Amino acid sequence: CAPNLIDSHGRTISYLRISVTDRCDLRCRYCMAEHMTFLPKAAVLSLEEMAIIAERFIARGIRKIRLTGGEPLVRRDVEQLVRRLGSHVGANGAAGGLDELTMTTNGNHLVEHAAALVDAGMRRINVSLDTRDPDLFRYITRHGDVARVIGGIFAARDAGLRVKINMVALNGQNDREIAPMLAWCRDEGLDLTLIETMPLGAIDEDRTDRFLPLTAVLDELKEAFPLVRDTHNSGGPARYWRIDGSDTRLGLISPLTANFCSTCNRVRLTTEGILYTCLGHDDQVDLKTILRQQGVVGLDAALDAAMNTKPERHEFDIAATAPAVSRHMSVTGG
Ligand code: GTP
Ligand code: 5AD
Ligand code: SF4
Repeated sequence: CAPNLIDSHGRTISYLRISVTDRCDLRCRYCMAEHMTFLPKAAVLSLEEMAIIAERFIARGIRKIRLTGGEPLVRRDVEQLVRRLGSHVGANGAAGGLDELTMTTNGNHLVEHAAALVDAGMRRINVSLDTRDPDLFRYITRHGDVARVIGGIFAARDAGLRVKINMVALNGQNDREIAPMLAWCRDEGLDLTLIETMPLGAIDEDRTDRFLPLTAVLDELKEAFPLVRDTHNSGGPARYWRIDGSDTRLGLISPLTANFCSTCNRVRLTTEGILYTCLGHDDQVDLKTILRQQGVVGLDAALDAAMNTKPERHEFDIAATAPAVSRHMSVTGG
């Protein structure tokens, strides 16, 4: 049985995020520029190759896989990958198994896909929704229709998925909607996670102006809601609170104001087959070339080598003039 993945800082890596496509049908202003150059199709891993790499990770102790992007549901036939990886959920043999297979989506195509995701073994999903205001939603996403996304959220919930809303906190844009969003999530049986905007990739606006520290937001929310600390651990970076008397969890992802790198358990595989060991650094291993040249037997040594290069922490600085790394969140997979 192959050994688990442990990095040179002693952190066990049990969570793999796969960006199944760098493309997206929205253009959220904090995430992308209006005009983006996406990867040519020939540069991209096939779904079969993604599954082979993911299965090698599972054999090396990965217990949680999140499919992300870009927008995972715009990749043709993505359900085949979901179904194949879903077959590992709950398995616990010599070849390992997954505790969870999940997805982060913009919700635009959930109405069509929700039932199939449940059928393939998904139990939980994260959906980006930065505002429920139709005009502001259109402004932030440049192309989005909020009614369609909310329809997707309800379809997912009604199909049996636990739904967590991801809301990037944006100063002067959606800050006044945070408390109403939490109330709505409580009323609709959803969870909410607030995220600090991170300096990844060039965009058309100034992220420094938009940055909202979640420390201050939490203090305000505690005035309005009976929030109790919750020990829930999703295996992700959030710290959780719960609204007393309800099931709704509030998560805070604060890479800038409350660094969580010391407990990092994650690596990321891009659409192109590059393994990034940190969201905020360029350290990488080209798994696509290794797989295509050496076959699956070459992957183990590459994963071990990657463990030795995983940086201790990101160095995000929201006030810096250039983003910390030039690639967008949609390339690395968040
Ligand atoms: P859960 O399984 O629900 O905990 O999900 P998650 O938070 O791991 O995943 P999701 O795709 O919903 O990501 C939410 C936000 O967390 C995104 O903005 C991610 O980029 C960010 N995030 C996830 N992992 C890391 C990380 O290691 N470092 C930083 N800085 N941000 C991260
Ligand atoms: N900073 C923080 N969050 C971001 N997301 C996309 N780009 C950024 C960024 N630069 C969010 C999306 C989605 C999640 C995967 O990451 O809104 O919910
Ligand atoms: Fe697309 Fe998500 Fe980026 Fe918005 S945040 S442009 S939905 S990848």
